[in-house]
Amino acid sequence: MSKNLFATKSVDKLIKESESGEHGLKRTLTASNLTMLGIGAIIGAGIFVLTGTAAANAAGPAIVISFLIAGLGCLFAGLCYAEFASMIPIAGSAYTYGYATLGEFIAWIIGWDLILEYLFGAATVAVGWSGNFVSLLKSLGIHIPATIASAPLSYNGGTFEATGAFINLPAVVLILVMTTLLVVGIQESAKFNNIIVIVKVAIVLLVIGFGFQYVNAENWEPFIPAREILSDGSGRYGWQGIVAGAAIVFFSYIGFDAVSTAAQEAKNPQRDMPIGMLTSLGVCTLLYVLMALVMTGLVPYEMLNVPDPVLVALEAAGPGLKWLYFFTGVGAVAGLASVVLVMLMGQPRIFFAMSRDGLLPAFFGKVHPRFNTPYVPTIITGLVAAVVAGIFPIGLLGELVSIGTLLAFVIVCAGIIILRRTNPDIKRPFKTPFVPLVPILGILICGYMMVNLGWDTWMRLIIWMAIGVAIYFLYGRRHSKLQQPTPEIPEEVVS
Ligand code: ALA
Repeated sequence: MSKNLFATKSVDKLIKESESGEHGLKRTLTASNLTMLGIGAIIGAGIFVLTGTAAANAAGPAIVISFLIAGLGCLFAGLCYAEFASMIPIAGSAYTYGYATLGEFIAWIIGWDLILEYLFGAATVAVGWSGNFVSLLKSLGIHIPATIASAPLSYNGGTFEATGAFINLPAVVLILVMTTLLVVGIQESAKFNNIIVIVKVAIVLLVIGFGFQYVNAENWEPFIPAREILSDGSGRYGWQGIVAGAAIVFFSYIGFDAVSTAAQEAKNPQRDMPIGMLTSLGVCTLLYVLMALVMTGLVPYEMLNVPDPVLVALEAAGPGLKWLYFFTGVGAVAGLASVVLVMLMGQPRIFFAMSRDGLLPAFFGKVHPRFNTPYVPTIITGLVAAVVAGIFPIGLLGELVSIGTLLAFVIVCAGIIILRRTNPDIKRPFKTPFVPLVPILGILICGYMMVNLGWDTWMRLIIWMAIGVAIYFLYGRRHSKLQQPTPEIPEEVVS
């Protein structure tokens, strides 16, 4: 019995099943679509909001080094994702890779964990989007009352309190609009994403290009401020501050892996999946490092502890950059909207794969007869995310999204080492270089960032996972196609 928990599905079998008519999706996405989807998912709340708080509270100007560390962890994990995505080019991302290497139980654990990244990630960023959208409208003279544009619940010291607000309506509306777009078509969604990505990257480039001219290099001194211990016993700055900063800004890299969830809709996934993930990651790392340099160069880092740090940095430059204020608001609104779109695209494709394997009810795998999209899981994801975004505050969710994603990255890196041993001869159109060094470094850096997230975040992860394990034993294990004696027999069992 315990052996069956770790029964794997062969890669051939996974691919064959995905091609059967019932589960067919339309292959329309090109390498540039995939790269744009990656950038769409990556640049968002992380760079527009968290850079400031992480610089002020954790690392100082050395937040630039934090970005490099987090980026390196993502690069190593991304190289492992790229091997898997080219080898198993079907929907499901890390969940499917887990099924092929570590067995059904761990696959379920990863699938359940990915809900934190995608569904909760979409809800978190939608709440951030709402704040930016309301400010942008305010700058145009349009006021949306806080009672319908903020969370009715706040979370303080372990308890929920009513805030007096009714609902975060802009966040709910954004999610419902994006959900509708995703039901109508993956290509339509990709086209819309392309437009938003062009807008936000252009604005980030404007901030970098014009901001650099106003940098005061004295703000970078000292680049690594000396370690300080605060009155509550916590510390900041110094090397530990840099690592703590990396764990915070890791959020800004989340999303490149969402590209892999669309593998079954890519025209040439073997070639284009690695291109989409690694190019988007590379482009965004460069933009992040430059943006962090500009922001900490424009203003003393202590002043960046605000919800709109890019604006604060530009204001410090004086009237010369005033014209950029409005564009920065537009960049943030566009940036966060595309993150929500791609996260809402990723989640249903994982549900879709889990339903194909019998771990979720069959209706989670329903493809729309006309639009060729997994419309039922898309609608379910959208409705749940809308409820979460409409009610909960952003702070409660953000770190949970990061820890969930880091856990998936660690498992994917481990999976590469395992599959190279258990299945050395399988066709690998893209090979992670320097195995096992690269996956081991991925595990170490991502694991280290996990350790740097708070204890309360770990508790929430453990509770979330315990719920997942219970659901697996109550539902998934009994309905799993792999666990049924006929007609499907486990092909390989990890001994
Ligand atoms: N990387 C995404 C963001 O920063 C989740 O918003």
